[in-house]
Parts: sequence; structure tokens; C-alpha cells
Amino acid sequence: MGASHPEQELSLYDRSLLLDLDFSRSPAKFSPPISAANPGEPWMKVRPLQSGDFHRGFLQILSQLTSVGDVSLAQYLNRFAQMRASGDYYVTVIVDSRYDKIIGSATLVLEHKFIHGCSVRGRLEDVVVDDTYRGKQLGKLIVVTVSLLAQRLGCYKMSLDCKDKLIPFYKSIGYVLEPGNSNTMNIRYEQSNSISANRTAANEPPEIIDPS
Ligand SMILES: CC(C)(COP(=O)(O)OP(=O)(O)OC[C@H]1O[C@@H](n2cnc3c(N)ncnc32)[C@H](O)[C@@H]1OP(=O)(O)O)[C@@H](O)C(=O)NCCC(=O)NCCS
Repeated sequence: MGASHPEQELSLYDRSLLLDLDFSRSPAKFSPPISAANPGEPWMKVRPLQSGDFHRGFLQILSQLTSVGDVSLAQYLNRFAQMRASGDYYVTVIVDSRYDKIIGSATLVLEHKFIHGCSVRGRLEDVVVDDTYRGKQLGKLIVVTVSLLAQRLGCYKMSLDCKDKLIPFYKSIGYVLEPGNSNTMNIRYEQSNSISANRTAANEPPEIIDPS
């Protein structure tokens, strides 16, 4: 596993943002104490997603969360470039450097608003830890990492959707169910006729629409 030219790899965002996150600001309890900079094992690294992570099992680990589909390397790299150019996607991974393999991931997405004085809200997405590494604080580690990153980047709040059984997990990290304001509602769309489905099929980058 692993890319043959890691020195040529792109990072989704500036990895130095992860070095000085202050884990004492999180209500999560770690025993023994760990952080993004010191995840507790010399072979474990917390870092931004890289362009070569396609070859390190990134999509395979996402498939432990939900259906990923048959995503080609070209599609992965297009999406990576899109996210990187936007500057609003902080896909963060845990790597087992002994095997050069991704073992955990969580994403912070920045949502820019006009309200609250043009504020920014964080969204927590796609949290997963490889099933052979669960129960070792890595879920907490990756969620606290992106939550502190949201605070560092100026978000006024961070929100998530989760299954009922995971409410205790997220509560232990400081997330709360706000009375009267904690419902998730969805409307699901057929993708076959959408513009983006046709574009993805052709592996094309997104069209920039001129607003003038
Ligand atoms: C949820 C998940 C990320 C947790 O990862 P993990 O590395 O096992 O979590 P941790 O070891 O950091 O556990 C932290 C705490 O949450 C609890 N916890 C973990 N998974 C849980 C689950 N599925 N249900 C209830 N509690 C859970 C642990 O018991 C632990 O409690 P403690 O701090 O009191 O000891 C992992 O189970 C996973 O990847 N699940 C599949 C994907 C998924 O459901 N993702 C979340 C989408 S919202």
C-alpha cells in the first residue's frame, strides 16, 4: 500500500494547523492523555487528507461508514482538487505508518453565512475508525481534533447528525442535544438526471457559472 512518490503529494490543507490544538479545551476525557500532535503511539499520525491517500485505503475506510461506490483514482483526484481549491474542507485522517494505511477519518466543512455578522458554522461529517482499531480512543481523537480545528478557524458552532446509539459518544465530546432544536430532516433525490451526476460520469471538473 502507499503512493510511490509521497514527496509529490498534496495536502488538503496546511498540516501545521493541527500541531498546536489545545486538547485541554475539550470536555472529552482521554486516558491516557493523547492529542493530534501526540496521538499516543509513534506509528500513529493525525494529518490532513493527502492526494495519495487513495492508495492508503481512504475510500475503503469510508465504506465502513456508508456506501462509497466505485470511485476511480481520477474521480478521487478531481474531488480532492475541488475541495482543496475551495479551502472549506478539512478532511482529517489518522494513519498507521507501520502499514502506511488510513485507520480513521473525520471531516470539518465550513459553511459561510451572512447571518451573525457573516459568520462561519462548522459541520462534522463522515466520522469513521477502522473496525480493527475501535475502542482505543481514536474516534474521540479524530472528532476532538476537527472540533478544535473548527474553533481555531473561527466557527461560532459545530453541528453533526448521528444515529441515536451514538448520542452518548458525541455527548462525551461536548456535543449537546438542544431542546426543541435537534431534529434532522432529509429529502432524497434521484441522481441519474442531475447535472452533477452527468459531470461525474464524464470525470469533468465542475463548471464555474459566471453570475454576471
Ligand atoms: C463511532 C466510531 C467512530 C467510534 O470510534 P472508536 O474509536 O471506537 O471510539 P472511541 O474508542 O474513541 O470511544 C469513545 C467513547 O464512545 C463510546 N462508543 C464508541 N462507539 C460507540 C458506539 N457505536 N455506540 C455507543 N458508544 C460508543 C466508547 O465506549 C467510548 O466511551 P468511553 O470514553 O466512556 O470509554 C466507530 O465506532 C465507527 O467508526 N463506527 C462506524 C461508523 C459510524 O457510525 N460513524 C459515526 C457516524 S455519525
